[in-house]
Amino acid sequence: MILVTGGAGFIGVNFILDWIRETGEPVVNLDALTYAGNRHSLYALAVDSRHVFVHGDICDRALVESLMARHRPRAILHFAAESHVDRSIHGPAAFVRTNVEGTFALLEAARAYWSKLPGGEREAFRFLHVSTDEVYGSLGPQDPGFAETTPYAPNSPYSASKAASDHLVRAWHHTYGLPVLTTNCSNNYGPYQFPEKLIPLIVVNALAGKPLPLYGDGMNVRDWLYVGDHCSAIREVLARGRPGETYNVGGNSERTNLQIVRAVCALLDELRPDPMGSRERLITFVADRPGHDRRYAIDARKLERELGWRPHESFESGLERTVRWYLENETWVRNVQSGAYRDWVETNYSTRGTA
Ligand code: NAD
Ligand code: TYD
Repeated sequence: MILVTGGAGFIGVNFILDWIRETGEPVVNLDALTYAGNRHSLYALAVDSRHVFVHGDICDRALVESLMARHRPRAILHFAAESHVDRSIHGPAAFVRTNVEGTFALLEAARAYWSKLPGGEREAFRFLHVSTDEVYGSLGPQDPGFAETTPYAPNSPYSASKAASDHLVRAWHHTYGLPVLTTNCSNNYGPYQFPEKLIPLIVVNALAGKPLPLYGDGMNVRDWLYVGDHCSAIREVLARGRPGETYNVGGNSERTNLQIVRAVCALLDELRPDPMGSRERLITFVADRPGHDRRYAIDARKLERELGWRPHESFESGLERTVRWYLENETWVRNVQSGAYRDWVETNYSTRGTA
């Protein structure tokens, strides 16, 4: 049995579906079901006894402790977070609460539980913390990618709160000996991603004939990692990673945002042609994000060297799978585009010159 936090969000859902398919090991899934959490995504496991869903908050230490006492997990995989940079600019408090205080509460509950485990179980226990490459700050065009030794330099409220949580995790290992593992990955994309993040936003806007907003000059660079590859990396790190170590996870796919948007348009134009012409006509340059990091890139050689992990999908194959998934799952998209989603679109885009 493993305990997953945030398992109703984008990566958590993909992780749990893959985990149960690959390993068959049961999962307790603790999720607060914020705007980003969606139980419909786990519909395939609705009557599967290997998935136990618990609606609750990671900041609720008593709840976390009671779950551990009842289910006796051999590992905690911590995905729960506030994860969207633009939201962190409009409202940073929730990020400090969940990402910093929530991780602290979880670490304390884990420490209390782990310290009382009998010898063998204590040895085998792991706390795997899922983090981001954004903690390393922004790169120049010629800089080498982020390595595990790159100094932290977070620039947004989101990345600062994730950096704080990484530091807590590190300290709980060095001070208390808690067997932690940290992964810092690049931008994920794939099925079940909430359409506030770039790729699904562009897909749903393009299908609706709405503007495709590019911040600034559209030349910011991210490394893109297919979510299924991220999930396989996490399984490897959990199985064979060295406690106390961090592992960077990347997709070997650096692209500018303009390249991303054009690639999505090309796929949609091919798979579902628009009588009005290419969706590229919808590209709209809008006001930039304050403090927008220019470039992220990952050096994932440690993970390859130590654990033999490499991404399986190329950006082209991963993007095609993703776009096809959104075309085949329009009901899922409609369900998440609630009133709260429309409010967010208004908040984020109305002052940028497109809504
Ligand atoms: P997401 O926003 O899609 O999902 C987050 C989930 O956490 C939601 O289901 C939400 O309900 C839950 N949650 C939020 N606050 C909670 C709380 N207080 N208690 C319990 N549950 C709570 O995020 P995601 O994209 O799936 O990201 C998962 C993790 O991966 C995060 O830690 C994020 O920082 C990290 N990460 C994501 C990316 C990416 O590209 N999506 C890249 C690097 C790192
Ligand atoms: P995002 O998916 O929010 O991830 P992150 O900021 O965590 O990397 O954004 C990815 C890139 O796309 C980032 O450089 C910001 C840019 N972007 C746009 O240009 N337009 C948009 O509407 C959004 C949501 C993002």
